[in-house]
Amino acid sequence: MEHTANCLAALNFYVDAGVDEVIGTMPVDRYTESKATQAAVTQAPAPQAPRRQTSASSSKAAAPRKVAQTEAETSARALAAGAADLAALQDVMAGFDLCPLRRTATNTVFGAGNAAAKLMLVGEAPGADEDRQGQPFVGVSGQLLDRMLASIGLDRDNVYITNMLAWRPPGNRKPTAEETTMCLPFIRRHIELVAPDLLVFVGGTAATTLLDRNDGITRMRGRWFDYMVDGGSAIPAMPIFHPAYLLRQPALKRQAWIDLLAIKARLQDIS
Ligand code: URA
Repeated sequence: MEHTANCLAALNFYVDAGVDEVIGTMPVDRYTESKATQAAVTQAPAPQAPRRQTSASSSKAAAPRKVAQTEAETSARALAAGAADLAALQDVMAGFDLCPLRRTATNTVFGAGNAAAKLMLVGEAPGADEDRQGQPFVGVSGQLLDRMLASIGLDRDNVYITNMLAWRPPGNRKPTAEETTMCLPFIRRHIELVAPDLLVFVGGTAATTLLDRNDGITRMRGRWFDYMVDGGSAIPAMPIFHPAYLLRQPALKRQAWIDLLAIKARLQDIS
């Protein structure tokens, strides 16, 4: 009985700490593992003093990571450029295995909604629910996004929604700069193919990356920027607070509402 209560208390502690998935079916004793590693290190021969590297050998040492990164980016760029339509882009992304996120994700989350819509929203990356269902913004923050859209008369039949990254970063961590950079050609081509009249960047990561700016979301939200398409044309783009952030900071919903009204007005201007 006491054992069950202890197990339940431990489980509750994990849930409170943000643990949201089980990685293995058997427990792993990391204490034993780390003791074994320490023993191996103690028995290993003492490390040699580092030898001075010539410039040729130092550039060789740095090369593998750089080459892998460049290869992924170059490949993504070529694949994205060769995709003539959204179906082709979805296909090449589903087959792209150079992004490490793809290996841990369950699904490639491509996009949802109406690809002929005037308004395209771009979020950060799929979370656990999106990864499971293969659809963007279907979890709690997606439900808030739906309510935000509904407040200005929009729904998934008259907007198109996607993310900067098509694969869930493990544990919902923020994507690294490398992951973002290697996937950038895909989202840029995605925007080019949808060719919306207006863009909304949902959250700071999408806004700073796609607008190539360093400002925080609080400075950028509610302002119109020019998103430059590769061909040279510009699409008006507004960053807004991410619904996940609004769930944590409900007082900011007032500002989000002002931004939504500005988006609604701009949409009315172009129809
Ligand atoms: N957060 C995002 O940025 N995108 C999703 O699809 C879900 C949560």
